[in-house]
Amino acid sequence: MIEIFNLKNVISIKDFSKEDINYILDEAKKLEKVAKSQAISNDLNGKILGMMFFEPSTRTKLSFETAMKRLSGACVGFDSVSSSSMEKGESIADTAKMLESYCDGLVIRHELEGVSQFISEIVNIPVINAGDGAGQHPTQTLLDLYTMREEFGHIENLNVALVGDLKYGRTVHSLAYALGLYNVNMTFVSPNELRMPKEILRDLEKNNIKYKENTDLNDVIDDIDVLYDTRIQKERFPDVEEYLKIKDAYLINKKMLEGKDLIVMHPLPRINEIDYDVDDTKHNRYFKQAFNAVPVRMAILKNLILNNKKFED
Ligand code: CP
Repeated sequence: MIEIFNLKNVISIKDFSKEDINYILDEAKKLEKVAKSQAISNDLNGKILGMMFFEPSTRTKLSFETAMKRLSGACVGFDSVSSSSMEKGESIADTAKMLESYCDGLVIRHELEGVSQFISEIVNIPVINAGDGAGQHPTQTLLDLYTMREEFGHIENLNVALVGDLKYGRTVHSLAYALGLYNVNMTFVSPNELRMPKEILRDLEKNNIKYKENTDLNDVIDDIDVLYDTRIQKERFPDVEEYLKIKDAYLINKKMLEGKDLIVMHPLPRINEIDYDVDDTKHNRYFKQAFNAVPVRMAILKNLILNNKKFED
């Protein structure tokens, strides 16, 4: 059993050291053949993962389920209040306690920041934050870093632009913290209304992590290795009129990428920020990125569930 990965839960990427991240990426690499169904693993045989999803999901939910099943484990859970007894008024705390008694780990997506943290404090099985409102999405960040490392062989010193909705986009919140551990040249490209939150900028500055901000993607597109695009998060806008004003702020298409030496990543779903004509270009890494969720989440599940430190509390 590994000794380096000592996390009891995966709630915030801020809880990870660079060594923790590198460890998970290395473990994920070893699991690629299992993820691709080219090898069999019984590592989580007999283990059950609980899924509590209060917001829609395709990739996160299904890749966790795939990861668990590829390791010979199983999943139970629900994907809405209305398909659980919370519909009858049961509290989320009691619901989580029920899943604790059935499962060996819990994955939670919720529209409110801090819910995964709260649940992690009341159950004795590992809890994974699969996205909490506009807060964090730490496992997405791990697969994003895996994708960059697979592409370039390293993460250090890459030139990365995080583009789009940096205010409400939880994937870029987690990713900015993680890239800060790797001496990456980060540029945050967004409309003024959707700038990276001040507390994240302050945290980066406190740790002497350098970043630039820009509103114009054209200013930076020639100098980046990774264009990490994001969806404008319509569901988090208090006023839909504000959303409509900026929803098309950055539209990426094949023509604007001509002659550029960069990869395009996106946590997905995309709405219209990446034109379909980019899909068949050398720049597209967003589908590969989505597949990388499987080996990376396998590595996370294997290490958290088999090494459950919460029983020691
Ligand atoms: N990247 C991501 O979180 O996608 P889903 O919302 O489909 O899970």
